[in-house]
Amino acid sequence: MGELIKILGFAGSLRKESYNRSALRAAVKLVPQGVQLDTFELDNIPPFNQDHERELPPAVRAFKAAVKAADAILIVTPEYNYSVPGVLKNAIDWASRPYGDNSWDGKTVGVMGASPGMLGTARAQYHLRQMFVFLNMFPLNQPEVMISHAKDKFDNEGNLRDPITTQKIRELLETLTEWTKLLQKAKALS
Ligand SMILES: Cc1cc2nc3c(=O)[nH]c(=O)nc-3n(C[C@H](O)[C@H](O)[C@H](O)COP(=O)(O)O)c2cc1C
Repeated sequence: MGELIKILGFAGSLRKESYNRSALRAAVKLVPQGVQLDTFELDNIPPFNQDHERELPPAVRAFKAAVKAADAILIVTPEYNYSVPGVLKNAIDWASRPYGDNSWDGKTVGVMGASPGMLGTARAQYHLRQMFVFLNMFPLNQPEVMISHAKDKFDNEGNLRDPITTQKIRELLETLTEWTKLLQKAKALS
C-alpha cells in the first residue's frame, strides 16, 4: 500500500444549487483507492485586503492551512463574464499571500467546471491556468473536464446523472493522483 494522497477541492460558487458545487460533490464519490478528497467552502472568506495579510482572518488562516496540508488541489470553477468568478480569484489571492508564504507553491492541480452554456467554462479554465504560472503550481493538462449544458447533466437534487461526465471526472482524479505521485517521487530524488 502506498501513502494516502490528499486532495483539497473547492468550488468557486456560493450558490446553494450550484452546478459546480454539485460537480465537486460528485468528485468526492469518484476518488480512486488510496485518495482522500476533502472539500472547503469559500463562503466565509472575506474580500482580500492587503492590510490584513500579516494577521489573516480566521477563515483565510483555515483555508491556507488546508491548502498547505494537501498533496494536490482540485478547483471547480464556474465561468463569469468569460473568466473566473471573483469569489474564486479572491480565495486564490488570499492563499498566495503574504509575499514569501504562497500556499499554492509546488502543488499539483486539476481543474474542472460546469456551465449551462455550450463551452463548459473553457475560458475561465484557461484564465485559471495562467494564474498557475505565477503561483508555481503544476496543472494537469488532460483530461479537461468542461461540463457544458449542465442543466441536462444533473438532476434536481444536484446529483450528476451523465455517465460520460462521470467517467471524465473519474479519469481526472486518477490522472491527478498519478501526476502527484510522479512529482513527489521526482522531488524525493532531487
Ligand atoms: C455574473 C455572471 C456572469 C456569467 N458569465 C458567464 C460566462 O461568461 N460564461 C458562461 O458559460 N456562463 C456565464 N454565467 C452563467 C453561469 O455559468 C451560471 O450562472 C452557472 O450556473 C454558475 O455556476 P454555479 O451553478 O456553480 O453557480 C454567468 C453568470 C453570472 C452570475
